Amino acid sequence: MLETRLRPLASCSFSVLTRARGLASSSTPSSQLRVAGGTYRQDAFTNVTNAIIQKAETSLLSKPSHPLSILNSLIHSHFPDYKAITPSSPVVSVFKNFDELGFPPDHPGRRHTDSYYVNKEQLLRTHASAHQIESFQTDAKKWLLTADVYRRDEIDASHYPVFHQMDGARVFDKSPSELRALEEENEVMAHRLAQENILIEDESSIGPQNPYQQAHDPAQAALVAANLKHTLNGLMLKLFGGAAGATKENPLRVRWIDAYFPFTSPSYEVEVFFRGKWLEILGCGVVNQAILDRAGVKERISWAFGLGLERIAMVLFSIPDIRLFWSQDPRFLSQFTPGVISTFKEFSKFPSNWKDVSFWISRDVHENDVCDIVREAAGDLAEDVKEIDRFVHPQTSKTSLCYRIHYRSMERSLSNAEISAIQDRLEGMLVSELGVEIR
Ligand code: DAH
Repeated sequence: MLETRLRPLASCSFSVLTRARGLASSSTPSSQLRVAGGTYRQDAFTNVTNAIIQKAETSLLSKPSHPLSILNSLIHSHFPDYKAITPSSPVVSVFKNFDELGFPPDHPGRRHTDSYYVNKEQLLRTHASAHQIESFQTDAKKWLLTADVYRRDEIDASHYPVFHQMDGARVFDKSPSELRALEEENEVMAHRLAQENILIEDESSIGPQNPYQQAHDPAQAALVAANLKHTLNGLMLKLFGGAAGATKENPLRVRWIDAYFPFTSPSYEVEVFFRGKWLEILGCGVVNQAILDRAGVKERISWAFGLGLERIAMVLFSIPDIRLFWSQDPRFLSQFTPGVISTFKEFSKFPSNWKDVSFWISRDVHENDVCDIVREAAGDLAEDVKEIDRFVHPQTSKTSLCYRIHYRSMERSLSNAEISAIQDRLEGMLVSELGVEIR
């Protein structure tokens, strides 16, 4: 998956975070979990936390002046004839999130340390593509779908366990007339792009690593892939052209490279050169025929793409910290106007404070387990969490870990007493949840 952080794992063992803690409703039996309006069975696999359940109840996209919402609408306005599909619940089956899309059984995204499981069979979707098959089933030939998605992760300014993705697709009949029309449309699009201030650096290539599918006539797949490229180049120009100040002499640079996704072939990644850096913007490709077959749309061929809204919004609006998207501070939301990309004006940055916590572990502890406990104890006041020391005691062979937690509020100054209280709570939770011994 794009944006999956394939960090080497300290351990692949089962997380010991098993249950959502202190569940909200007293009328919900402890074996049940309420998530986004639904009731689910808990089991030993459950690792979704209260902090995350609360996020799942908050819809940022329903606020018209929220930067994510502005960006979402901007993309919709670029694709006016695409059907907007809104998925219902973020809880999906493991089958739908992974198996149905062709993810292998050992894919890292499935790990208990990487995803939030409601129980062994259901999890918070890790990508918007979990809804791809049902979207194709609507029979819409062009659609866009935006969803909040969930991945267990480290804590820093660019990672947050909840973010938003948009998937889009366009389906074509394999009829000769539709393919002829597509060929003509591609020519018009290519001609139009050639007049624009965009430089397309296509480094992708078809080959054994990134083949057309057996089920496809290569000429048809090539037309579909070309249409995908023209369409997304147009979108990149719309999103970044103005912001990058693209001119004839200094055009917007868009790069296409080969990629791999279990549900597309060929697959590509699109990067944009923006403010001196190449940014990975989206993943896309020609949809695996097995997926369209499963959706019951035979005799059709489709392309699809998926992009992360936060990453794009952070660069377009110059938002320095991903936590700001969740800020309730009116000084954040009141800055933005629906339909307009504007530069975020920092409202005084409050000082940050750090505290270390050191503990002995008696079994493997995954960094994501520590981070989820920090999120439970500190909410969005934790800005950054890093392991700063690890050593094995020469005599006892026990391992000691030290984590440094930087605290900062986006909205106010934090008192020492407040931070100490959070740190005490955190230590208590580390002991009770992970069985560590504080040093
Ligand atoms: N779901 C992918 C991810 O999270 C992104 C993606 C890639 C979506 C290719 C697509 C696609 O629809 O065709 O990384």
